Amino acid sequence: MNVLVIGATSAIAKAVSRLYAGRGERLFLIARDKQRLKEMAEDLTVRGADSVSTSTLDLLQHDQHSKAIETAVSFLGSIDVALVCHGVLPDQERSEEDFAAAAEALDVNGLSVISLVTELATTMKQQGNGKIAVITSVAGDRGRQPNFVYGAAKAMVSTYLQGLRGKLLSHGVEVIDIRPGLVDSPMTAHLDKSVLFSSPETVASKIVKSIDRNRHTVYAPGYWRFIMLIVGSIPEVIFKRLKF
Ligand SMILES: NC(=O)c1ccc[n+]([C@@H]2O[C@H](COP(=O)([O-])OP(=O)(O)OC[C@H]3O[C@@H](n4cnc5c(N)ncnc54)[C@H](OP(=O)(O)O)[C@@H]3O)[C@@H](O)[C@H]2O)c1
Repeated sequence: MNVLVIGATSAIAKAVSRLYAGRGERLFLIARDKQRLKEMAEDLTVRGADSVSTSTLDLLQHDQHSKAIETAVSFLGSIDVALVCHGVLPDQERSEEDFAAAAEALDVNGLSVISLVTELATTMKQQGNGKIAVITSVAGDRGRQPNFVYGAAKAMVSTYLQGLRGKLLSHGVEVIDIRPGLVDSPMTAHLDKSVLFSSPETVASKIVKSIDRNRHTVYAPGYWRFIMLIVGSIPEVIFKRLKF
């Protein structure tokens, strides 16, 4: 299988890539840190990947997305699976006071993802097959006081994917929305850890299985579906007073 991983140096992406390497897949990795990409390619080759190539890109450069996907296609031949993993957890307080900070967070977590998905959809429609998997978040399910800028971007992507999924159905292209809960990764290094945190490896295993099985909306781990069902059912009159 030919797998494109975007935001490949993320902890979750790295764990997913190792699972694909273990299965002998061919991988193309895109991220902004050249040295870490090089180390990752070497690691994945040792772990059994058929072949690995990389490309360096700051994903906020939307005008480079088309070229980046073209480069991936020229290495892979065709893209069976594309996984979009990049993101940042912005400083919520700062984003509320400084729109430039909010706009950048909305761009990296929202617009840049939609730009890449647009390019991937065009490529896979031409192929007549493929799977686009995107890591969103449970934070997109309901706007909460501590992280609603991040949550708004993730909700935008989830809604976009939901509509696109129907559009691509007749083209043989699957669209998979992966919503992790709390994951112990560099993104959450500053947070106190609770039992609700999962490892990147646990989430990666769920991601790979869900892509294999063409699931559409995936909570990772699965119990987050029930947690978010409860969070979603709290009446707004109470919810607006909750600080969590
Ligand atoms: N950790 C969680 O609790 C959690 C929960 C739900 C969803 N998620 C989502 O899971 C995905 C992976 O996150 P993670 O937990 O694995 O965190 P992570 O290890 O911090 O990964 C985030 C990745 O995004 C990359 N990135 C950020 N801005 C970029 C840009 N402008 N151009 C290129 N790459 C950029 C980072 O690259 P650098 O390393 O070069 O900065 C890093 O590789 C993200 O979409 C995140 O929102 C995470």
